[in-house]
Amino acid sequence: MGNVFVLDHPLIQHKLTYIRKKETGTKEFRELVDEVAALMAFEITRDLPLEEITIETPVTTATTKTLSGKKIGLVPILRAGLGMVDGILQLIPAARVGHVGLYRDPETLKPVEYYIKLPSDIEERDLIVIDPMLATGGSANDAIHSLKKRGATSIKLMCLVGAPEGVEVIKKEHPDVDIYLAALDEKLNEKGYIEPGLGDAGDRLYGTK
Ligand code: URA
Repeated sequence: MGNVFVLDHPLIQHKLTYIRKKETGTKEFRELVDEVAALMAFEITRDLPLEEITIETPVTTATTKTLSGKKIGLVPILRAGLGMVDGILQLIPAARVGHVGLYRDPETLKPVEYYIKLPSDIEERDLIVIDPMLATGGSANDAIHSLKKRGATSIKLMCLVGAPEGVEVIKKEHPDVDIYLAALDEKLNEKGYIEPGLGDAGDRLYGTK
């Protein structure tokens, strides 16, 4: 069964409080989301495998460690997922970035992918799917299905805030996918917003509405 990790580092929790506050304006919101994304990436990459190599320092020869595992791919779900990418790239600058844009056809309720562009070797990469809000779980679920259909075998899901409803959907549909959250909130309200949440992540990142 996929695990759910709530990253309770004090810096993440402190910054998340300011992200949630309704008075926080677009510029500060964007900066804070970047910072939290970087801190979350630090925690999420804790299990990356290392290998020993021998190098020359200016003083002597040393056996030291370097990353040895699969390469990483980031897959933000458009549009709000984009807001977390730069923060993660600060720590993992060599990661490739794919993009997935989808919506649900209101009549058929089937997911419609209006945009998808991925690194050519996704089956060889550890993928991190990024969506700030795991609300109903619909978009993340559809995006993960889409990546698996294209050959992805290693996927983690990274969100700022999750609702129990969304977490259950991903756990049921994708038991192989670990979920990383900065907070697991109380519930989804009747309008589909996470409570207490932070509002519409895309609108707050891009100053729209
Ligand atoms: N999407 C958002 O941006 N916010 C929510 O609260 C739920 C879904």
